[in-house]
Amino acid sequence: MENARRVLVTGAVGQIGSELTPALRARYGNENVVAAGHRTKPSAALREAGPFETVDVTVRADLERVVDHYAIDTVYHLAAILSATGERSPGLAWSVNMGGLYNVLEVARERKLRQVFVPSSIAAFGPETPRERTPQETVLRPRTIYGVTKVAGELLGDYYVRRYGLDVRGLRYPGIISSETPPSGGTTDYAVEIFYAAVEGKRYTCFLREDTVLPMMYMPDCIKATLDLMEADPAGLRHRCDFNVAAMSFSAEELALEIQKHVPSFVCDYRPDSRQAIADSWPQTIDDRAARAEWGWKATFDLEAMTADMLVHLGARYKKGTLWPR
Ligand code: SER
Repeated sequence: MENARRVLVTGAVGQIGSELTPALRARYGNENVVAAGHRTKPSAALREAGPFETVDVTVRADLERVVDHYAIDTVYHLAAILSATGERSPGLAWSVNMGGLYNVLEVARERKLRQVFVPSSIAAFGPETPRERTPQETVLRPRTIYGVTKVAGELLGDYYVRRYGLDVRGLRYPGIISSETPPSGGTTDYAVEIFYAAVEGKRYTCFLREDTVLPMMYMPDCIKATLDLMEADPAGLRHRCDFNVAAMSFSAEELALEIQKHVPSFVCDYRPDSRQAIADSWPQTIDDRAARAEWGWKATFDLEAMTADMLVHLGARYKKGTLWPR
């Protein structure tokens, strides 16, 4: 175990944070990884395995207090408002996503921290971007406020690398599918909700059309991509905060059919809402050759393997009566 790190994870209670935090604790030691959440209550496991702090990333003093108290040298900055929530509250999305990121980068710059991870997203792309094998270098004109903050975040991160020599790195995550903590407020959330319905024996009404294809990734690959990028030799990195990463792409109907192979009685219908327009402005497949070449990225899970694994994990929780977090 490498012990030379003192890590802060913002957004630790969220979908990615709740699994990235334990992975970081396994690597660097429980006491060396501080989980920070804001409104959502942390699970007992997250709170008890190591330090937990309440942090509002829009309040710089909150970040300074925790970074100083724990002598933090590395920040995984996951706290953010996702695409659908952002469209309901653009001001909130700007304040959390931009204000929060600026605070994190400034605290990191002033204290000369070792590394900062800043996630971007497929939401950085827009309707003028090629939707098939979306290139690493391409048109970035998103139509959502979430996407606007992601493009600005990529540029701001790259700016801190060049201007201040701060080691900032980031990926354009596709939709992330996971069994531990459901996502909230995103356009790709259907791909997680559908599994909860299937294991509960319920019909699922999808908020996207059946032929909507989006890039997705299973959580173990998301964790691997994040840690591999952060541990990559900086000498090999031509990009910094904007790496395309791909794992799988499927339509909502293809996912439902894959679930039906395991749960033949499962029924999915489709009632597109305002999130359809967001999905239609995003890529369908991603060209991730830069990530492959610069730090050896390669996904493990495809649609079949992910679906089987999700159903095993959620099915076991359903049987124990612990499908939903308390
Ligand atoms: N999963 C996110 C969303 O749907 C995209 O980054 O908003």
